[in-house]
Amino acid sequence: MTEWWKSGIVYQIYPRSFQDTNGDGIGDLPGITQRLDYLADLGVTALWISPMYPSPMADFGYDVSNYIDVHPMFGTLADMDKLIEEAHQRDLRIILDYVPNHSSHQHPWFLESRSSRDNPKRDWYIWHDPAPGGGPPNNWISRFDGDSAWEWDETTEQYYLHSFLKEQPDLNWRNPEVRETMLDVVRFWYDRGVDGLRVDVSYRVMKDPAFRDNPINPDWREGMEPYQRLGETMTKNTPDIHMFNRWLRAVNDEYDDRVLIGEMNLPYEKLVAHYGSVREPEFHLPFNFHLVFSPWEVNNVRQLVESYEAALPDYAWPNWVLSNHDQPRFATRAGIDNARLGMLFLLTVRGTPTIYYGDELGMENVDIPPELVQDPWELLTPGLGLGRDPVRTPMQWDGSTHAGFSEVSPWLPVANNAQSVNVAVEQADPNSMLAFTQRLIALRKTLPALQLGDYRTLETSDVLYAFERFTKSERVQVVLNFGADSTTWKPDGAVKILLASHDPDPPATIQDGVELLGHAGAIVQPLE
Ligand code: NOJ
Ligand code: CA
Repeated sequence: MTEWWKSGIVYQIYPRSFQDTNGDGIGDLPGITQRLDYLADLGVTALWISPMYPSPMADFGYDVSNYIDVHPMFGTLADMDKLIEEAHQRDLRIILDYVPNHSSHQHPWFLESRSSRDNPKRDWYIWHDPAPGGGPPNNWISRFDGDSAWEWDETTEQYYLHSFLKEQPDLNWRNPEVRETMLDVVRFWYDRGVDGLRVDVSYRVMKDPAFRDNPINPDWREGMEPYQRLGETMTKNTPDIHMFNRWLRAVNDEYDDRVLIGEMNLPYEKLVAHYGSVREPEFHLPFNFHLVFSPWEVNNVRQLVESYEAALPDYAWPNWVLSNHDQPRFATRAGIDNARLGMLFLLTVRGTPTIYYGDELGMENVDIPPELVQDPWELLTPGLGLGRDPVRTPMQWDGSTHAGFSEVSPWLPVANNAQSVNVAVEQADPNSMLAFTQRLIALRKTLPALQLGDYRTLETSDVLYAFERFTKSERVQVVLNFGADSTTWKPDGAVKILLASHDPDPPATIQDGVELLGHAGAIVQPLE
């Protein structure tokens, strides 16, 4: 049997922004449950829900103060059980965000750890004496502000490590008690029926055991992100990370059919090591972020596919993502004209796709006025364009005042275009982005070649990229026009058009070339 996550489609939900049900302007778990029919109709397979645990919200939930509960703002454990049950009734899987690298500074473990040097939980976090001449123990810097990753603690006169905010102290996974407790967290959620985990910054969990300095980055210039002043050889993707991956995978495999997705941003030759080997498997899906961090440009996209395909061991299954809660939305990065082309590529290239909520509507970044900024990253590094609020705005359900997201003014403003870009309007229009995405997903489900088939490049030019997905008995071809002008693609012989990105009712059979508008694409099948 093929694993569900290979043919499946992951849909990422940022719970604060999906659907509010209790009128506090913040999305919640009952809101997700309420919208399950929409998601089932869309046709996605699994919902990855960003953190919904108790948290002081210094980093909007990525600072967890209890790993085995639900923040009251999002609901209760009973709400989570209901969500899991109702999702499963609709054949939707639930993937939670697991945050192993750091907890909140308000987690009871850290409160104990910092209370005295001989507290039994002292070694649950990473404490160090000052460097011999005074000051932080080494040169490591925090990801969010570019200042030291070490925070001085007056009471116990040592520094603790925080790779992100000082409100997010790093857990010490070299301590077996930490390991056992955190692995029990996995069991806790899997026992409740959760189908998999997206593992936050998994490749940062194991630091250099000798705490050596990171190297200076000679290419750093003013205007670049402050944390990039140093290379990160001692703080991420260290050789020991594979131990962590294997600990996690072993627990995962105590259960049937669960999936582990690792968050890491690495070049392909390093990324593929996180699959592990057949004998010692690690992540099922180490996230492939290359489309997010490089231009939507024909040669780049084709080269990404070809170099990824070449780097993957034969037991490894690829994955692709266009947007997430940390980076500008695809429709903003690539331009709204490319939104459909991006979706067509994401859902037809070989590998498991992850769709970010709202991308199926063509949602774009929303400008956030300075007085409404929420994201600590923007507050700590203003003006560098690192803030993530613009990509976390409320889901656009309908044309009402708060876009059907909430009865009250939401925690982040609704997009200006929500009157026209929303689920209700797009469901009524057969030529909308949503209708297109829905047709695309439905078609994908009927074609094994699109879900699980092999990949080969058919043709590329300065504007066109065509590829084939194939099994022993099925061939499906995808053509994408990256150019702004119309063009014609001449396939090898007559083809049947299965789907066109900008025409809900395309001509059935084409003898002499597929006409494509600018930024348009199509899925075709050769007529033998
Ligand atoms: C990566 C998450 O995606 C991001 O949102 C978060 O701020 C950091 N990890 C820290 O947990
Ligand atoms: Ca709410």
